Amino acid sequence: MHIARLFATALFPLATVAFATPAAFAQQAPKIPDARVDAVVKAAFPTAPADWESRLTQDATMKECSAHHNAPPKALAETIQKREKAAIEYPADGKFMGDWKKGEALAQSGYGLRFSDYPARRANGGNCYACHQLTRKEVSFGTLGPSLLDYGKLRGFKEADVKLAYEKIYDSHSAFPCSNMPRFGKNKILTIEQITDAVALLMSPESPVNTGK
Ligand code: HEC
Repeated sequence: MHIARLFATALFPLATVAFATPAAFAQQAPKIPDARVDAVVKAAFPTAPADWESRLTQDATMKECSAHHNAPPKALAETIQKREKAAIEYPADGKFMGDWKKGEALAQSGYGLRFSDYPARRANGGNCYACHQLTRKEVSFGTLGPSLLDYGKLRGFKEADVKLAYEKIYDSHSAFPCSNMPRFGKNKILTIEQITDAVALLMSPESPVNTGK
């Protein structure tokens, strides 16, 4: 994992990361009331910009994932996936594939949501390389997520997989409940158009992800 890159980003849902303790360790942890934990998290960011408030408050999915140390029982996992999927917004023109070149640029960019990024001076990035290998050319990448080399090629560039890629990027919890990947669309980190650019990076036959260049 490329530590410098990973920590250069503020894209993590803070509350999820804070509570994502390994199960073995958590078993010995003392019981602390939720309200107290919430208060401590809030107090840790006294000068946070106003719109950070929502980032410090866990939504239902984050609460459920925390309660089960990111390994919810099957029925709950399905409930989470269904709920997250139902909230996905799709491109108005029905086109899931944007511009892979813009997708590569946002995959490289870790800009956005940090204290130093207020007020915003440019579009947020996705920081995809912090967690994924995507192209052979970029040798600096993290390994928290799977390698996405040849992503579209391996899936035969199928239309259904294009849509699925969009859904995974818009809200990773719709595919992997309690995923460690930021919910880029749901949490308004990336716009719908940017997400289609990231989809093109993964699924376009011309993209370096699939050409191997
Ligand atoms: C903080 C780390 C992190 C970042 C940043 C991140 N991902 Fe992920 N991603 C993951 C992890 C971890 C998984 C595997 C699913 C899981 O267990 O959460 C994943 C899974 C995926 C998958 C599904 C792979 C499959 O099996 O079909 C896609 C597609 C994907 N990521 C694309 C992206 C794109 C595009 C970006 C940038 C916009 C991105 N990711 C940013 C961590 C990350």
